[in-house]
Amino acid sequence: MQETNNVRALVLGAAAGGGLPQWNCGCSNCREARDPNGALTPQTQSSLAVTANGRDWSLLNASPDIRSQIEANPALHPRSLRDTPIASVLVTNGDIDHIAGLLILREKQPFRLFTTAAIGDILAANPVFEVLDPNCVERITIALDQPFALVDGMEATLFAVPGKLPLFMEGENPDTALEGEQTVGVELTASGKRIYYIPGCGRLTDRLAARIRGADLVFFDGTVFHDDEMARAGTGLKTGRRMGHMPMSGEGGSIEALKDLAIGRTIYVHINNTNPVWQHGPERRAAEQAGHEIGHDGMEVQLT
Ligand code: MLT
Ligand code: MN
Ligand code: ZN
Repeated sequence: MQETNNVRALVLGAAAGGGLPQWNCGCSNCREARDPNGALTPQTQSSLAVTANGRDWSLLNASPDIRSQIEANPALHPRSLRDTPIASVLVTNGDIDHIAGLLILREKQPFRLFTTAAIGDILAANPVFEVLDPNCVERITIALDQPFALVDGMEATLFAVPGKLPLFMEGENPDTALEGEQTVGVELTASGKRIYYIPGCGRLTDRLAARIRGADLVFFDGTVFHDDEMARAGTGLKTGRRMGHMPMSGEGGSIEALKDLAIGRTIYVHINNTNPVWQHGPERRAAEQAGHEIGHDGMEVQLT
């Protein structure tokens, strides 16, 4: 196994909740991802793994696909009888695509679980998560804007990002621009590099833009290309913004908003199955011509 002092980020799952294909979706992207001769490769749900030493890893979000994600990435395999290179798991909101994988991580394996108090409350309110034996899994509450040791050689800081309560808690008319502990972004610092992981973001505020300006690497919310894309695809009526996700295109979209922030690399993750950027068409070209990359499962970035 490769052990280095390079900071590495591994996209375990590039898709948003549901994945590509989504179990009950027959949209053109999902159909193509199901077709062995189709142009689209299936993509799993939202998660990133990071390391600063090549040996100890932290998972940013625990997706329902975590079992196959670990199997697909040899760096995360056990190195002895009962073992894992996964030293910690950090959750950025309480949505199913980011917490359900915690249930797969039962089996009396020690690791540290970092959440904000609000996200920790969601786990605490659902007794099924008690399957993570507190004698093995240490739950650690992290305050916003306070750096902490995420994994050997890497610090993280959580910060509020406009978003909303998880789908299963949102009620009739959710505030989709909540800025608090419900939805957070992550700043990672290691070996003099500054990386951001922001898989859900309702709006790129001036404050957020100032924060990420000049970063070496930003993983950003690529849920939808068009705000009304679900309606266009015929798969639903909700807009991206209603789901707490700013669109990539258009006024106030992330393609424009991220373009002039002097960021080394911007990579879209948490990409919904309806998003046309999965295809090699004009939408993907628009993102790429603005200097952004489209994430995919197994994509690895090394910062030297
Ligand atoms: C989201 O990112 O909006 C959620 O993951 C939606 C969901 O829980 O399906
Ligand atoms: Mn999601
Ligand atoms: Zn679909």
